[in-house]
Amino acid sequence: MQKLWINAAQVVTCQGPGRARRGPEMRDAAIQSHTAVAAEHGKIIAVGPQHDLESTYSNAERVDCNGGVLTPGLVDSHTHGIFGKNRAAEQELRASGLGYMEIAKQGGGIHSSVRDLRTRSEDELFALALPRLRRLASYGTTTVELKSGYGLSLDDELKSLRVIRRLQTALPMRIVPTFLGAHEIPMEYRSAPRTRADYIALLEHEMIPRVAAEKLAVFADIFCEPGVYTLDETRRILGAARAHGLALKLHADELEPSGAAELAAELGAVSADHLAAISEPGIAALAASGTVATLLPGTMLFLGRPRQAPARALIDGGAAVAIATDFNPGTSPTVNFPLMLTLAVSQLRMTVGEALIAATINGAAALGLAAETGQIAPGYSADLALFEVEDAREIPYWYGDQRCRRSWARGDGCHG
Ligand code: NIG
Ligand code: FE
Repeated sequence: MQKLWINAAQVVTCQGPGRARRGPEMRDAAIQSHTAVAAEHGKIIAVGPQHDLESTYSNAERVDCNGGVLTPGLVDSHTHGIFGKNRAAEQELRASGLGYMEIAKQGGGIHSSVRDLRTRSEDELFALALPRLRRLASYGTTTVELKSGYGLSLDDELKSLRVIRRLQTALPMRIVPTFLGAHEIPMEYRSAPRTRADYIALLEHEMIPRVAAEKLAVFADIFCEPGVYTLDETRRILGAARAHGLALKLHADELEPSGAAELAAELGAVSADHLAAISEPGIAALAASGTVATLLPGTMLFLGRPRQAPARALIDGGAAVAIATDFNPGTSPTVNFPLMLTLAVSQLRMTVGEALIAATINGAAALGLAAETGQIAPGYSADLALFEVEDAREIPYWYGDQRCRRSWARGDGCHG
């Protein structure tokens, strides 16, 4: 069955090479007017003047965009959507002056989500995650990465990844699984008889091999940060992940600079994420590498931290920048991707074109999917989002609003 999207005021095509856009390439989101999009079997087959496509595909099912703006489906390349209860209480603790790491040291933060997730069944976690993903889709996201990382034991990490696998078949969205067993050192490995070295050995010798053997993840990620995993431990754990065929991601330089961004570049990680505390050498290392710098401005906003990632220095230095929600119960409980576009423009001082590229093709590149999704071009998956605005600049402008009216992944409806 052919489908034809017509009557869009603008089509934000993001057309260009099927790879991350770097530096000045990020400026041009290739916005077109009077343009229609045709798809067949879930793939885009033509993008061109509406008049021409209407006669070429006269039998296609019409989708009337009603004068809205059509974009590639948004690609949220960093989320922690598999968790149990919320952590709303921590927000007040932070307001009273307690830092993120101080809350973690007292057994809160990630540890409290771990305690909670361990009590829940796979069915229960699946039932909790499903409506969250539908809410993500309702804001225009059609591809989402989901991390494990609140289990921190073999069984609880496998349970989380199996929930992600079930979600992949339950929803039309494109879902990319990431193993984040190295999210923290679990509490039971912090005092005798068990040590952090024992947990790292468990990651290397049991968890990673099992996750890879069961093909439960595409990526391995780690929270490389002073007070969590050191650079040496990161090297070792990601080395094991790579040896088992997993691609690499790092939570890098989120709160303090430690050389994590440089390590991401050295290891050839697909992305280095957060980077609010990245150093000058870190910026230079990413700019000279193929690693996508994934910025998560909602996290710094929600934690009330004064410093956002230096998006301008990264882009002006020639790096490829993506943005994502970091949706998680501790530091970024939002499903609103367009709000991240607002923050990208108003806080990170990106242009609207850069923000749109960062949320689409560069997000796709951060997931190794830049040849499949993230642009509206022939051969690409029919992953689309329709916003009720007349001009693409309004997507970040109406901040916090829900303007996405419909979205599609592989041509199938995700929302609306
Ligand atoms: O990306 N920084 C590490 N991981 C998450 C937060 C996890 C949590 O606090 O539950 C993040 O911000
Ligand atoms: Fe994260």
